[in-house]
This record gives sequence, structure tokens and C-alpha cells, in this order.
Amino acid sequence: MSSERSAIILAAGLGTRMKSAKPKVLHELLGRTLLGHVLRSTKSFQPDNRIVVVGAAADQVTAFLDKAASDAETVMQTEQLGTGHAVRTALDAYPDLEGTVVVLCGDAPLMRRSTLTELVEVHEKARHAVTVLTAEVDDPTGFGRIVRDGEGNVLRNVEHRDADLDELAIREINSGTYAFDVQVLREQLAKLTSANDQGELYLTDVLELAREAGHAIGAVVVDDPTEVLACNDRAQLAGLRRIMQRRINNDLMKSGVTLEDPETTWIDATAKVAPDVLIHPGVQLKGATAVDSGAEIGPDTTLTDTIVGSGAVVVRSHADQSHIGEGAHVGPFAHLRQASKLAENSKIGAFVETKNAEIGPGAKAAHLAYLGDATIGADANIGCGVIVANYDGARKHHTEIGEGAFIGCDSVLVAPVSVGDGAYIAAGSTIVKDVAPGDLGVARARQAVLPDWVAKKRPGTVSDKAARRAKGEAGVSEA
Ligand code: UD1
Ligand code: CA
Repeated sequence: MSSERSAIILAAGLGTRMKSAKPKVLHELLGRTLLGHVLRSTKSFQPDNRIVVVGAAADQVTAFLDKAASDAETVMQTEQLGTGHAVRTALDAYPDLEGTVVVLCGDAPLMRRSTLTELVEVHEKARHAVTVLTAEVDDPTGFGRIVRDGEGNVLRNVEHRDADLDELAIREINSGTYAFDVQVLREQLAKLTSANDQGELYLTDVLELAREAGHAIGAVVVDDPTEVLACNDRAQLAGLRRIMQRRINNDLMKSGVTLEDPETTWIDATAKVAPDVLIHPGVQLKGATAVDSGAEIGPDTTLTDTIVGSGAVVVRSHADQSHIGEGAHVGPFAHLRQASKLAENSKIGAFVETKNAEIGPGAKAAHLAYLGDATIGADANIGCGVIVANYDGARKHHTEIGEGAFIGCDSVLVAPVSVGDGAYIAAGSTIVKDVAPGDLGVARARQAVLPDWVAKKRPGTVSDKAARRAKGEAGVSEA
């Protein structure tokens, strides 16, 4: 027997009930598309070939596969004549496949890798021609039912809509995932007929046909019936997302991550969180986000493709494609965008936005600032209300702020401009020319004082009375 293994993933249906311009299998579930999750799970049995049957919106599915799984082959099923027809189309396109073929549904993303490994191992050890993965569920509505004889041997599958009352009462269902001996599969697929309620060619009929042809068939029952759930509409998608969330969160908690409120914590399957990270309620960690040990995230924080160093603290903030260094402090209400890099022990505080900015070690922008396209040296202090004006209406320019520089409150640095190491900028300045190390840049009107202006121009007002009292003038009573 050949040791070759192949995966065939059925993904030709549009998924009409999703009511979407996007094919069902490309909808997202915690960091990956449904199809992406299924493709990843197939790695468990190390297939030599991965074949995806596409049909509806095939261009979109193929474009996704080109990016996400370049080894996967696609086969076009022009008309969706049933799951049996889909597999037959794949085998016709690949006439040389040998050994084991595992068929999976592209819309069932919760299958554990260990389950697939077990399915293939049982199938190959027992030398079955067909091994179907099944589950015992409380509500089998809509699924195919597994019919067994008195000794528990699998006889066949019957679809919900073709089942009689006794069969409808069966709670063991067909997951839609199977391992086949490819030769038997080819032979039996040729015999399929569409004599059923849907007038389709049912892959499930191969079970009975193979048994009748004298081949051994069997089943593997999953321990966790949620693994077989598929997605047909957006309510089910939300249900699957909730199940996957609980799985990811439970795994993380077991690995040593504290989640104060797992129900409001949404961590993508693609994100990484080290032990001894503390996560407060309302946190989303998306994409390639990675959080190192001792960091504290949240509450109410969304990090996308963002790296967080150990001991960093991120409170009520939003970060995208950014790097938050060890011991850095972010938020509350900070927005880090597009390649912002915060070095260790830096601080980005309330209502500060950074974009493509490098913040040096120990540098601080504690409140109300915009830092775009800027490099900020170690221990620099960015005062409240500072704006780095990076955009001239046509192009973006870079600003350089040196180590230990001090930028006074409410200053505007008009890029391109540089402030040298240890230089000071006086509060309220608009800086358009470079300031050398150690110099003070002041760019504001000098203050003028007009003595007794209030007494002359605003006599008798509360201000006038207050001023007179302050000067100790007689005859002015307390307000
Ligand atoms: C199928 C099984 C059912 C099982 C259930 C598990 C059959 C006849 N029935 O039912 O026993 O309990 O899965 O979820 O197989 N597809 C194609 N081309 C087609 C038809 C379908 O690629 O011509 C794809 C669909 O896009 C989908 C998958 O195959 O990803 C399953 O097809 P679907 O029509 O949803 O089958 P079910 O009725 O759910
Ligand atoms: Ca289905």
C-alpha cells in the first residue's frame, strides 16, 4: 500500500445564506479565513498534495490560496452537483494519486489537528477503505446520520432529508471529514447516482457502496463534538468564533496567561502571548501580535500585528503594526500607527498619536501630541500639545529630535526639521529651522504687558474689582 497522503478540501459552494459578495470559506474567524483554518489543520497528517475544489467565486478563493497556501492546488468544479461530484472532479484532475485521501469541508474550521492525525492513523492501521469521522450530538438536525448494525458496525450514512423517522432519531452524525483509500474511492464514486431528495451526487453514499463491494469501513468518533461544526450563516459564524475564542483562551490560561475576563478577550489564533502576561477585560490581540512575559494589556485595547516587550503596560489604546519596547508605558487613549517603534521604558500617554515614529529609550510624550514620521532620541521630553507637522499637503517629511531634547508644550515642529541633542524648544514655538545641540529654539511673539489696562478699559467689571482688591485699594468690598 502506498504511503502517499492527499487532502481534498471542498470549497466550491458559495454559501448563499451568508448573504455576502465574498465566498463563505473566505470569511474570517480569529485571524484566519475558514479555509485557512482547514488548510492549517491538514498539516497534522503531512499530506503530499493539498487540493482545493473551487467553484463559486473561484477567482477570490484562488487569489487567497496563492497568497496563503502556495503549495495548494485548485480544481474547478463548474457546477455544484454534490459532494460526490466535487471529489470526483478532483480525482479526475489528479489521476495519479495513491494511498490515503482525506476529504474535508472548507467551511468547518474547528477540527483539531490531533483529531485528523487520529483519523488517518486509525484508517491506515485498520486498513479501512473508508473511515468516516463522526460525532455524537444533542441536535443532529441537518447532518447526515450514521447507521450502524446491532454490533455497532457502520453500515451507511443517510442524509437528514432522506432519513426515515428511526434514522432521524440517530444522534451520531457525519462530520463531512473522511479518510479514503483512493482506489476504492475512485471505483465507488463512479457508481454514484443522484437518486436522493436533492438530486445530487452524495460523497456519503461511498460508505455503503464500498461496504457492499466487500471493503472494510469504519468510523472514528470525536471526543469534542464542537470540532465538526460548520458555518452556513453569520449567526453560526459568530457561534464558531465563540467556540474558538474559548479554546484559544483556555489554552492560553493553561500556559500561564492571566485573562481577567475570557469572555471579552479576543485573541487571534495567529497571535502569541507569553506566560505571566496579564490581560484585562475588553482586549483584542489580532494578526501577528506577540506579547512578551510580564506585560499588562488593557482594559479595552486593540493591538494588530504589534509586538509588546516584557513588562510593558498598554492601557485603553489602539496599536497597529507597531513595536512597544520592554517596560514601555502606553495610554490610556494612545494610538500607535504604522511602524511606530517605542524603545524600552519610553512613555506614550493620553491622547498621543504616533505614526511611523521611533521613540528612543526613556523618551516621553505624556499627553496630547501628534508624532508623525519622527525619530525621537533617548530620554527626550515631548511636552503637552506638541505637534510634529509631517505633512505639507503634498508630501510627508521627517523630523529628528535628539537625545535628551526638551520640547516645550504646544510647540509645532514643521518637518523637515531637526532639534539637536539636549536642545530646548520654548513652549508655544513654531519651529521651522534646525536647532543645534544644546541651543534654545524660541519662535513666538515676545510678551507685552500694558499696565492698568483693565482699570482703563474695563472699569467696574468683576475683573477690575478683583484687580483692585489684589492691589489693596480701599473701598472695594469682598465680592
Ligand atoms: C455534508 C454531508 C453530511 C454531513 C455534513 C457535515 C453530503 C451529501 N452530506 O452535508 O452528511 O453531515 O456535510 O457538515 O456530503 N461542496 C462542493 N461542491 C458541491 C457541493 C458541496 O464543493 O457540489 C462543498 C460545499 O461548499 C461545502 C461542503 O462541500 O464546503 C459540504 O457541502 P454541503 O452542501 O454544505 O453539504 P451538507 O449538506 O452540509
Ligand atoms: Ca454544510
